[in-house]
Amino acid sequence: MIFKQVPVGTFQNFAYIIGDEKMGKGALVDPAWEVDGLLKQCQEFGLKVVYVFNTHSHHDHIGGNEEVREKTGARVVAYKKAPSKKDVGVQDGDTVDVGNVRVKIIHTPGHCPDHICLLAENKLITGDLLFVGECGRTDLPGGDSAEMYDSLFKKILALNDSIEVYPGHDYGSKPSSTVGEERRTNYTLKPRTREEFIEFMSEP
Ligand SMILES: [Fe+2]
Repeated sequence: MIFKQVPVGTFQNFAYIIGDEKMGKGALVDPAWEVDGLLKQCQEFGLKVVYVFNTHSHHDHIGGNEEVREKTGARVVAYKKAPSKKDVGVQDGDTVDVGNVRVKIIHTPGHCPDHICLLAENKLITGDLLFVGECGRTDLPGGDSAEMYDSLFKKILALNDSIEVYPGHDYGSKPSSTVGEERRTNYTLKPRTREEFIEFMSEP
């Protein structure tokens, strides 16, 4: 599997390239900025871009969708109820194959209702749900701290400690981490009841 994290734009965003080098098929995740540079890298890897995945519908994650579609014919994959324009609507537990690389969809609302995480082999793209050392905000429209609790504690922390975490923004001390490291060191993931977590998220 080809997997590359690419810093893009002016809000410390990360886009991602996922690809199957044998079949020459690839996908871009959240290509909201610097589309030409991302497409050039895909070309250098020998990948034809067949999908765009959006972790969620905020503009700093979907802004390049149309440009990628026009230039490659890629199909846009997003949560089935996402308000943004998409070609393939997915839900929790679905899989999408990029060549022979299987991408598993994990629905993780909380930051916004249409948020998904993407698991490819041992790499988890966490969008704005989980950053290195921090979690996403829940005070924007559609945000919900109770849903955030379930997504973080029941879905992400249920995964094996060895799974690597790749966030949607470079907000931490380093660009990526693991589930185990976040479990041990991320102050937002300290053991809390749902009520305690809601209270914690409401604190300034
Ligand atoms: Fe966001």
